[in-house]
Amino acid sequence: MSTHPSDLPQTRKKVTTLALRRKKQRGEAITMLTAYDYPTALSIDQSGVDVILVGDSLGMVVLGYSNTLPVTMDDMLHHCRAVARGAHLALLIGDMPFMSYQVSIQEAVRNAGCFLQEAGMDAVKLEGGNERADVVRAIVSCGIPVMGHIGLTPQSVNQLGGFRPQGLNLEAARRLLQDALQLQEAGCFSLVLESVPARLAELISKRLEIPTIGIGAGVGCDGQVLVTHDVLGLFDRFTPRFVKKYADLHFEMARAFAAFKADVEARSFPAQEHSVEMPDEEWNALVAEDRAK
Ligand code: KIV
Repeated sequence: MSTHPSDLPQTRKKVTTLALRRKKQRGEAITMLTAYDYPTALSIDQSGVDVILVGDSLGMVVLGYSNTLPVTMDDMLHHCRAVARGAHLALLIGDMPFMSYQVSIQEAVRNAGCFLQEAGMDAVKLEGGNERADVVRAIVSCGIPVMGHIGLTPQSVNQLGGFRPQGLNLEAARRLLQDALQLQEAGCFSLVLESVPARLAELISKRLEIPTIGIGAGVGCDGQVLVTHDVLGLFDRFTPRFVKKYADLHFEMARAFAAFKADVEARSFPAQEHSVEMPDEEWNALVAEDRAK
């Protein structure tokens, strides 16, 4: 049975990184969805989902790029601010875009700080394994919680040779496990595992004390994340195998737009209830004045 947002207990508290760690310890599944705007953030927050990620996937599902590489800090901060205005209980995570944390540790720290100081986020996420451990350490040392992201890391799509599953052989799987342990050691409070074999993701999740959030990584992760536009059927270009579509809003939108067009063309919209009128007295005076001209 589905839960209506208004049926949710009113005693919900703001979700923190510590609350996520406790959920893992209790064996409770963590939920995370992406949002890029105010109304979606409001709705996800009311549904009781634990974490909202303002993902750089916004480049593909909102801005129409073919990958996430063109997304800038300005794009991210703009959308993070909108999400922060709509969501007050979920943990809010801002995704650090391509080239905002790779050039130098100093730049990475400053950019990470902008997500908290200027855009209302509680934490940041960045992609990469052991090669990012120093950056993670530096950001965490400033009091900024960091979520790691390994496996299929979309910002490295050109290096990976496409959006393809990772960790499929012994060597690659070993490397992912090492990356996960090193990111935990560097101070990440959680890790996204994207498009990795389910058995490997489960093994990594068991070896780590911090929670793992899977996307295309099987049911053995401590939580699950999906891109909201995929969940809602709003992204028409392709649907990855690991997505479960819970609605077809692309179809619903097309239906509503066609119905609006038909109503306007048939002059059945706006109807009387959509219009305002002047009092008869005022109207008659205007008509008389106009006739006299
Ligand atoms: O950008 C994004 O939405 C993400 C999720 C898929 C984890 O990184």
